[in-house]
Amino acid sequence: MPPRVSVRRIFLCVLLGGGALVLLTLNQKLSWVNIQGPTLPPQFRFQTAKPLPPAQPSIKENSGQTEAPPPLPPSREEISRAWFFYDGKVLPEIPQKQPALFPDENSGDRIIEQLMYIPEDYQGYDTPEKVILAYNGLNQWGQQYGSGTFHECPINRCTLTDDRIKASDADAIIYKDHFTHPGVMRSSKQVWILYFLECPYHTQNVKLHDVFNWTATYRRDSDIVAPYERWTYYDREVRQMPQTRDYAANKTKKVAWFVSNCGARNGRLAYARELAKHISVDIYGTCGPLKCPRSDKKCFDILDKDYKFYLAFENSNCRDYITEKFYVNGLGRNILPIVMGARPEDYERSAPEGSYIHVDEFASPAELATYLHRLDKDNDLYNSYFRWKGTGEFINTYFWCRLCAMLHAPIKPKHYDDVNDWWRGPGVCTSRSWRNVQT
Ligand SMILES: *[C@@H]1O[C@H](CO)[C@@H](O)[C@H](O)[C@H]1NC(C)=O
Ligand SMILES: *[C@@H]1O[C@H](CO)[C@@H](O)[C@H](O)[C@H]1NC(C)=O
Repeated sequence: MPPRVSVRRIFLCVLLGGGALVLLTLNQKLSWVNIQGPTLPPQFRFQTAKPLPPAQPSIKENSGQTEAPPPLPPSREEISRAWFFYDGKVLPEIPQKQPALFPDENSGDRIIEQLMYIPEDYQGYDTPEKVILAYNGLNQWGQQYGSGTFHECPINRCTLTDDRIKASDADAIIYKDHFTHPGVMRSSKQVWILYFLECPYHTQNVKLHDVFNWTATYRRDSDIVAPYERWTYYDREVRQMPQTRDYAANKTKKVAWFVSNCGARNGRLAYARELAKHISVDIYGTCGPLKCPRSDKKCFDILDKDYKFYLAFENSNCRDYITEKFYVNGLGRNILPIVMGARPEDYERSAPEGSYIHVDEFASPAELATYLHRLDKDNDLYNSYFRWKGTGEFINTYFWCRLCAMLHAPIKPKHYDDVNDWWRGPGVCTSRSWRNVQT
């Protein structure tokens, strides 16, 4: 599948961009990428490795240099880093009696709460291990049999298996993209989890719609939210900071788009073509005239050096569906991403503040083009879209650690009456602009 390969390549490019400082850990990570499938987001791949260093300028990178570091908000250096940040060390300490881990308890994505959760009665090694059965096999997850996956987790008393014999007494059964009934009696305490990587258009309808207790998807209202990336501020009060660099410098070109799948469900090609009538849009890949082989690392350098805008258009308009296209090609580069895919409010909650432009902010491609021309002429305005850089990180959200912690939480029976309706019911996806949809 070519698009997958590209995501991986882009990812590797970003890794390489991290620089010599991290070369050692880098090697370790590259080998992880190789062993495991290219499809899963980093939170699955790098389970036992440290998270990636931040792609943005950070205090660390600047402090060793002779020139004066950029001005920083005072609180920043005092912030103790939680364990899931790069170089973070602070582990959760306080056991919680009433955690807000589930969607009905907290309207956020609860990722930080889950990462920092310690069950009240948790006794470390004296706590029995929870057995998690990966029903479609462990290879699919790039994980190995046993408890190794959980070694770095604050709550680590869990073990993974793909032995279906354990179906009757495992504490949890997780299904990846496909569901088959184990055919044995289940205890009322056993948790069945449905994981979807892709959006509803590219996932199958589930035959038994009322058997799942938890969901694990990129959707924000999943029990275990598994986004493609998760932006986290070091200090939630500090969302912008001065930048030393002029992001408009030397750029002579306007809009770039890398695309290989021309027939998407949201009319993105038609939109891009309409936009191209009003501003220069260079389309690379099978749907346009320009070629830039994915194997060529330099290909993506043009996004930093030559272009001002990048079309981070997803192939589907579905709630919360924001993929690496945005995070890696867009925010991972020194270019301003223009987004289409999830609803504007979804991007607002997930992306760093003021880091992108959503197509729905404009009534038409022509109006968007007018604004882009304005940005092209006004360097200060253009640069204002980069002030988020350095204020946080895309953290590893340690999917397995969170799952383990949640299995140790007090049991609160729940299940989905109709998981298909939740996943693909009315209003979840649209083939048109969100501007025309009541949500
Ligand atoms: C712009 O080009 C000049 C001259 O080649 C170079 O010194 C400078 O570093 C470039 N600026 C950026 C931001 O790339
Ligand atoms: C899981 O869901 C089933 C019904 O689908 C229910 O009988 C069971 O009590 C639930 N278990 C938990 C732990 O929520």
